[in-house]
Amino acid sequence: MISITDFTRGDLELLFIEADNIESRAKSKPLEGKVVALAFFEPSTRTRLSFETAVKRLGGSTLLISGEEAISVAKGENLADTITMLDSYADAIVIRHRYEGAALYAAEVAEKPVINGGDGRQHHPTQAMLDLYTVYRLFGSVDGLTYGVLGDLRYGRAASSFILGLTLFKPRHIYLVSPPQLRARREVLEVLEELGIPYTEVEKLQDVLGELDVLYVTRIQKERIPDPREYESLKGSYRVTLDLLESSAKETLKVLHPLPRVDEIDFSVDNSKYQAYFLQARLGVKVRMALLSLVMGG
Ligand code: NCD
Repeated sequence: MISITDFTRGDLELLFIEADNIESRAKSKPLEGKVVALAFFEPSTRTRLSFETAVKRLGGSTLLISGEEAISVAKGENLADTITMLDSYADAIVIRHRYEGAALYAAEVAEKPVINGGDGRQHHPTQAMLDLYTVYRLFGSVDGLTYGVLGDLRYGRAASSFILGLTLFKPRHIYLVSPPQLRARREVLEVLEELGIPYTEVEKLQDVLGELDVLYVTRIQKERIPDPREYESLKGSYRVTLDLLESSAKETLKVLHPLPRVDEIDFSVDNSKYQAYFLQARLGVKVRMALLSLVMGG
């Protein structure tokens, strides 16, 4: 499972139904006796912990690699050897790595299922699954809504995967809102174009905010921007506040964010009717349980 576009709409609908029913499914411990390796070569809080709790709630156990410095990679072991080892110790591998293509490479080396937990700026399929599931839970459907995706669309894998995930459905319109330096990558725009998904690139959230049903906010990916001066010049260039939402947004707008947040959503939004990012994080456990149950649970 490398990219969200490895899946069909039907796959995701099945996943959503599984997620809706996962609590009762978990009672039969579908992962009993199964081991999932969590190979996190890059920092992670939510993705790692939600996979960990998902495996355990399904009756399975985890093996954890966290940070390159702690393991033999620091002694010069190559990724292929590390993956081959994990492949023989575990029944599935979740991998996060700073290099694009690392998960695909791992999937070529391993015999067991490989789930991409984020590879560089490229893909984060399970994040997109939980984002789409959150929309489905909030609105009853992913179709027919107007979306704004705000922030670092160039280096942010969560934003790219969310946009690609929307292409499996029928969004009314997608506004890609970013400073000019952080526009969505060509390969993502090409998918929108090929599939005829209506989208517009804009710089100012204020210009489109009133039309949106869902606002997906992302942080600037400081660690992936090659030039620190560029980050300094972009820092704080957009910020969603309660005042802004109250003055311009639809009453029913929902704000999503993959987290972690830096300063792009003001704390004033947290206790408002617009906030949906904590629900989103919570639903991440259900979605990852559903995915593991479908992939490994028989
Ligand atoms: C995202 C990631 O790692 O890409 N975080 C996450 O998994 N929830 C988003 C980010 O780091 O900005």
